[in-house]
Amino acid sequence: MAFLFNSDAARGAVFRQVFARELPNLEFYHCSENIDPDKVRYLLTWNVPDEVSRFRNLEVLFSIGAGVDQFKPETVPGHVKLVRMVEDGIIRMMQEYVVLGVLALHREMLAYREQQRRGMWQALTSSQTTERRVGFLGLGMLAHAAIDRLKPFGFPLAAWSRSKKVVEGVTCFHGEDQLAGFLMETDILVCLLPLTEQTRGILNAKLFSFLPMGARLLHVGRGPQLDQTALIEALDGGRLAAAMLDVTDPEPLPEGHALWSHPKVMITPHIASVTQPHTAALSVIENIRRHRAGKNPIGLVDRTLGY
Ligand code: NDP
Ligand code: OXD
Repeated sequence: MAFLFNSDAARGAVFRQVFARELPNLEFYHCSENIDPDKVRYLLTWNVPDEVSRFRNLEVLFSIGAGVDQFKPETVPGHVKLVRMVEDGIIRMMQEYVVLGVLALHREMLAYREQQRRGMWQALTSSQTTERRVGFLGLGMLAHAAIDRLKPFGFPLAAWSRSKKVVEGVTCFHGEDQLAGFLMETDILVCLLPLTEQTRGILNAKLFSFLPMGARLLHVGRGPQLDQTALIEALDGGRLAAAMLDVTDPEPLPEGHALWSHPKVMITPHIASVTQPHTAALSVIENIRRHRAGKNPIGLVDRTLGY
């Protein structure tokens, strides 16, 4: 019985060490090593390998990231559990990035960057945090964690999810019918949705039209959720004052794309949050133990919902 690590060698080496200590009876292989495919019970990967069907005894397919949109579930036999990454390192880094992004948008950092480029020394008026409403699209693991870190700053906080939620200190909205109402009360919109058929293209002209004039966008979900042309129009027309994008479509954007040089846009190369091997190995091991005990792994994907 074996665990197959199908990702970079550096993180694989850390996983190997932690697995040897915690699960010494489970054979561990890196994808660069020869392995009898019948031995593979657990596979950790970003993309589902083309030859996944040769792992006839596969029980659990782990994503090395928090997102699972890159998996094509139809290529994976129905009895195989799909599990997204839930681990402290990803959570901590997303907390950092969202706080950084919200504060940068709140304190006009993109406008100051542009002023610096032009050699301008000029103070801009800025709202107090209590007047700047921050709204999250998605209220899952990462949005919850980011909200916890934002709370001390005093921003009024809201979130929109698929199902109904109650979270202390957060005005919760859910479902299609409540989306417009949520947007109308959001000054900084943070997208932390998974990419599914329902969320593809969700950040579009219609959605932007519900936001107050001069709203800001922090996009840390997935590139295909954003209509990039609509974003540029919203920025140029003043509906949006600034946007920070950690994800684009494609990644990277082609050379010369209008977003690269847009004065109201800041782009980072999909680094908001990165799986940290030590904490991730411990979390995968816990899930293997849960699976062996007949329990569902933490982060089990609902194949019907796609996340
Ligand atoms: P979760 O699965 O924990 O949460 C997803 C949230 O989105 C839930 O609140 C869910 O609603 C909501 N949601 C899903 N579909 C809809 C819909 N159609 N309408 C309204 N709400 C919806 O995900 P995580 O918090 O762990 O991660 C979110 C995403 O963040 C990942 O899928 C990935 O795309 C992105 N990510 C980006 C990274 C980066 O570096 N840029 C790093 C890691 C993740 P409900 O609660 O009702 O189910
Ligand atoms: C992830 C990501 O899903 O890096 O973990 O985007």
